[in-house]
Amino acid sequence: MKKSKRWLCLALLPLLALMAARQEETPHAYIALTFDDSPNAALTERLLDGLASRGAHATFFLIGEQLEGQENLVRRMADEGHQLGNHTYTHLRLDTTGAVGLQEVKKTDARLKEIAGERTYWVRPPWGFASEETLREISAPLIYWSVDSEDWSLRDAGKIARRVTAAAGDGDIVLLHDSYPESVDAALRIVDTLQARGFTFVTVEELFAHMNIEAEAGKLYARPDTLRPPK
Ligand code: NI
Repeated sequence: MKKSKRWLCLALLPLLALMAARQEETPHAYIALTFDDSPNAALTERLLDGLASRGAHATFFLIGEQLEGQENLVRRMADEGHQLGNHTYTHLRLDTTGAVGLQEVKKTDARLKEIAGERTYWVRPPWGFASEETLREISAPLIYWSVDSEDWSLRDAGKIARRVTAAAGDGDIVLLHDSYPESVDAALRIVDTLQARGFTFVTVEELFAHMNIEAEAGKLYARPDTLRPPK
């Protein structure tokens, strides 16, 4: 090695050390925000604007009967890289309603296919309730959550954001609702805080891919690596 080159290498060493330290400061972590009871005509658009400007992806679990008139909003979600999921047609619990509940899942799936195209729409059972029997009948993965924002009861953006950012870890699935203005504010604060800590916001599907886990139909996942036993 020529003397000049050696000097160049020596000069680069502190820079490399600095880059390594930076990486340690911001470890690579992935997290999925999920929004239930969506879409909301008054709030979802603001949420999408905020997520887009932050380069964050999320997952929306949609209620079939709320899709009427919101088709463009739903297509915008898909176009901007978000995942669309099924939250039944009228927000029905899937552990006690048998064939009626399953029919609602099918009906919502058909509406989603009409609006946003053919693909597998994953399911979030309302309140997380699903029986073993219903799981067997659903031909898509079902998604529970590993971090509960409790946004529906806290109704305070600061409290919701603090609760989630304190609990958030790599691979977590966070439950939120885009039906409350406080939740939308909280979600954007959560993105800002956790992005500064090195988190990347992905869809649930992307989270499974990053963790190299294949989601299976008829299973209820709290996180890609953790199953939730049906009740
Ligand atoms: Ni719900």
